[in-house]
Amino acid sequence: MNRLPNKVAIVTGAAGGMGESIARLFAEEGASVLATDIQFEKMNAWVQEARGQKLPIACIGHDVTSWSDWQKVVEKALQLYGKIDILVNNAGVYQPLETTEGTSLERWNKILAINATSAFLGAKAALPHLKKSGKGAIVNVSSIAGMVGGNGAPYSASKAAMRLLTKDQAVEFASFGIRVNSIHPGGVLTPMTENILPADALERSAMMKAMCPLGRIGEAIEIAYGALFLASDEASYVTGTELVIDGGMTAR
Ligand SMILES: NC(=O)c1ccc[n+]([C@@H]2O[C@H](COP(=O)([O-])OP(=O)(O)OC[C@H]3O[C@@H](n4cnc5c(N)ncnc54)[C@H](O)[C@@H]3O)[C@@H](O)[C@H]2O)c1
Repeated sequence: MNRLPNKVAIVTGAAGGMGESIARLFAEEGASVLATDIQFEKMNAWVQEARGQKLPIACIGHDVTSWSDWQKVVEKALQLYGKIDILVNNAGVYQPLETTEGTSLERWNKILAINATSAFLGAKAALPHLKKSGKGAIVNVSSIAGMVGGNGAPYSASKAAMRLLTKDQAVEFASFGIRVNSIHPGGVLTPMTENILPADALERSAMMKAMCPLGRIGEAIEIAYGALFLASDEASYVTGTELVIDGGMTAR
């Protein structure tokens, strides 16, 4: 229950899904958390409920593609908690079957901005404060789509960019005592996927059995536990790694 004692964490994309699970779990494990998302009202609803349960968590509206928004998020974290130890770049967008032929340049640039450039901006904005932490940690939520093809050109390219951004910054930031790691989820049931998956439970289950050795879709909390390990001091010798959490999907 206290795996992140005295830590301050920023978690993006926290209106629901994995971001909500990560932000909530980090607060339950002792971190003071600033949750961010472009969907402020949705995020604020669960954050207020969590604050009512005495969890140390606050939230702020945030477009992860905006440098000025990133500066406001960092200022807010410092104003609330006085420091920053952990940054989780989790916000992202996905639409199935975005092919090369079917994707405009505008759409390509938008997906790259939300899914990849955001993590660069976040690291840049938080860096001076992560340096001061002495035990800073960045966790980037990429995807197995950044490792194997078949999920659409812009999404795959954006998630692969995040994967190598992670490794490059792991090298660049090591001398500052900052670790940088990525998580690569497979299929996880969240607002992003619930409308993409077959509505029929039996059909959904059959699909997951065919795709995934563990035979089921993942839960957001199963990704959050991976983020918790990578963000915590338990992972003090782990940097530049890619943690695949996919029920075995990419194992074959
Ligand atoms: N669900 C899956 O199966 C799956 C698999 C692999 C990777 N992922 C990745 O996991 C991360 C979390 O996704 P999720 O499944 O919880 O989906 P989700 O849709 O519930 O969460 C994504 C969040 O990002 C926010 N967001 C989108 N654009 C934003 C912007 N410009 N600025 C700020 N916030 C913005 C959304 O409002 C949303 O709350 C994403 O990066 C996604 O690509 C998801």
